[in-house]
Amino acid sequence: MLKDQDRIFTNLYGMHDRSLKGAMARGHWDGTREILEKGRDWIVQQVKDSGLRGRGGAGFPTGLKWSFMPKESDGRPAYLVINADESEPATCKDREIMRHDPHTLIEGALIAGFAMGAHTAYIYIRGEFIREREVLQNAINEAYEAGLIGKNACKSGWDFDLFLHHGAGAYICGEETALLESLEGKKGMPRMKPPFPAAAGLYGCPTTVNNVESIAVVPTILRRGADWFASFGRPNNSGTKLMALTGHVNNPCVFEESMSMSVREIIETHGGGVRGGWDNLKAIIPGGASCPILRKDQLDDATMDFDGMREKQSSFGTGCMIVMDQSTDVIAAVWRLSKFFKHESCGQCTPCREGTGWMMRVMERLVTGDAEIEEIDMLYDVSKQVEGHTICALGDAAAWPIQGLIRNFRDEIEDRIKARKTGRVTAVAAE
Ligand code: NAI
Ligand code: SF4
Repeated sequence: MLKDQDRIFTNLYGMHDRSLKGAMARGHWDGTREILEKGRDWIVQQVKDSGLRGRGGAGFPTGLKWSFMPKESDGRPAYLVINADESEPATCKDREIMRHDPHTLIEGALIAGFAMGAHTAYIYIRGEFIREREVLQNAINEAYEAGLIGKNACKSGWDFDLFLHHGAGAYICGEETALLESLEGKKGMPRMKPPFPAAAGLYGCPTTVNNVESIAVVPTILRRGADWFASFGRPNNSGTKLMALTGHVNNPCVFEESMSMSVREIIETHGGGVRGGWDNLKAIIPGGASCPILRKDQLDDATMDFDGMREKQSSFGTGCMIVMDQSTDVIAAVWRLSKFFKHESCGQCTPCREGTGWMMRVMERLVTGDAEIEEIDMLYDVSKQVEGHTICALGDAAAWPIQGLIRNFRDEIEDRIKARKTGRVTAVAAE
């Protein structure tokens, strides 16, 4: 278990003063100018060496992403955009940073912006995060008043402006290019990639979009050293991570922990165990709605990190886990997710617009048992037609949970259809 002195988020539970004074007392904004004086290349190299991978779900190496930004300006401004549109079902970790540790994010924004040659950064915050927006704006105001950001930020000679922009509740605006469209004042619809934002992002200018946690960990990594961060977890999966536990655990929570702990240890250490004990566990969804559901017997030796979850044909995602005990109707749970994705599809491309509705309707029949056995394979085939054939990852995200359900809970689906045909279950109307 992570020791208290190794925690990056020193006020995760709001036990301390979140104002600038309190943040400084806990070591934030300490030596920021000296960090900037080490230069852009040093900062980017340190972030690369730390092994930090994007904390928003996709896990793309952060330092590598920063290195895609042009070294010399071609006349276009560069932008840093921080994705605070946290909307993944069961994911609520960035919210805690913004609520209780906002200065970690602001200091990280200055350092990251400097490292990428960006004098301007935007935080795009989820529309529903009204209180968090107030806290963050107060912290930004404090940082301006103290000369930590703005003209000659931290007396470094670097001018840096930070703006807070709030969304209006669309899940798709968390997709980085939809977010950029929305920030530009347009309808939040994803763009084709490439070009990636580093080549043509906000207003067609070089832009890096990073998740809140990815930016907020940077000051501590630079203060304590890339090797320190890389010493947690295992190669390719390094660092500490904010994770969450929801569902059938005794103690649902958000916590910071070392990467690469076992799933069981995480649930037992932080979640107080599965409701009714480990043997009462049925399944988990590891890190967000798009991550395929896993059975208990796949979890006894599972490691909670990018590689560990990939080995199980699932994904680590945001590290925010949904735990389901034996009382859970997993078919209904995945149907509910398919309903969510259908609702949130922006409708721009046909496989997603039509496919999500189609998949949801078959899932509905699987829930009640009113499907034919052959439809299970047909549903799998349809999900494969959606996966990889859409503009953004929402199509994949809608397909993967269904594929995971069919791979790992096929017996349960078949049993329900057979029982319905023999009259052993009555149809349960889907919500
Ligand atoms: P992605 O894998 O397409 O991209 C990840 C990042 O790497 C992006 O910033 C992209 O621009 C960059 N990138 C990837 N390949 C690149 C290349 N060749 N050159 C330059 N840059 C490159 O994934 P995406 O669509 O950004 O994110 C999907 C993930 O988001 C899902 O895995 C899901 O877990 C997560 N997610 C998280 C949510 C949350 O609330 N935190 C909400 C919804 C989804
Ligand atoms: Fe829109 Fe879905 Fe296409 Fe993404 S995959 S652009 S959400 S229609």
